[in-house]
Amino acid sequence: MKKCKIITIDGPAGSGKSSVAKRVARELGFVYLDSGAIYRAVTLFLLQRSVSPNDVSKIEECLKDLDLEVKDQQIYVNGENVTEAIRSPQVDEMVSLYSALPVIRSSLLALQRELQDCQDLIAEGRDMGTVVFPDADLKIFLKADAKTRAIRRWKELMEREVDISFDDVYYQIIQRDEKDSNRELSPLIPAEDAIILDTSDLTLDEVVERVIKLVKDHIEQVKRCDA
Ligand code: DC
Repeated sequence: MKKCKIITIDGPAGSGKSSVAKRVARELGFVYLDSGAIYRAVTLFLLQRSVSPNDVSKIEECLKDLDLEVKDQQIYVNGENVTEAIRSPQVDEMVSLYSALPVIRSSLLALQRELQDCQDLIAEGRDMGTVVFPDADLKIFLKADAKTRAIRRWKELMEREVDISFDDVYYQIIQRDEKDSNRELSPLIPAEDAIILDTSDLTLDEVVERVIKLVKDHIEQVKRCDA
């Protein structure tokens, strides 16, 4: 039986992981898992119900009513397509607070693993290589300096005509780095066996090219070992 491959791409906000993971998955015919979108969807769901990240018992209760579905790169909360809505600055601002909570992380762990469902997968996020898929075939960690990441994120927001200043985006990136890296559970750190790639001075095409080469080299190496 064919063994399905899992490639993880982790890294901070704006490191380019979503764009890279999406392109690599398309070019190699892998399924793409955007775990950040799942944390964002839960955040939006709780914000819409005005549930504070400090109210853990209310969160626990609300999660019972949450039905999350990912289909054709679209994400649905109780049947509503929230793919666009989860990219708002409000969600950006709050997502690190909710995603640090054990009650939320544990409820999403099984869901993320189920999505693998024996298909070749590119899983992208913060803890894909360390916690969700520790036995992944290949682990990549993308990094870039904070200013470069803020510029990328700001351009993306400008293209979507979101009204926000560059300074606010930069501040949010620094805040999110701080919270995502210093939380107790599943902090943003490279897995010990991850390959670290600094994308600060690389174009998207260059990063995609390098990641595809890493994946292909890995597949070749496994084939040689199996022969
Ligand atoms: O990748 P992103 O910027 O869309 O992720 C949004 C937030 O979700 C990020 O700030 C932290 C959280 N997240 C997480 O805690 N674990 C993941 N595997 C992915 C995202």
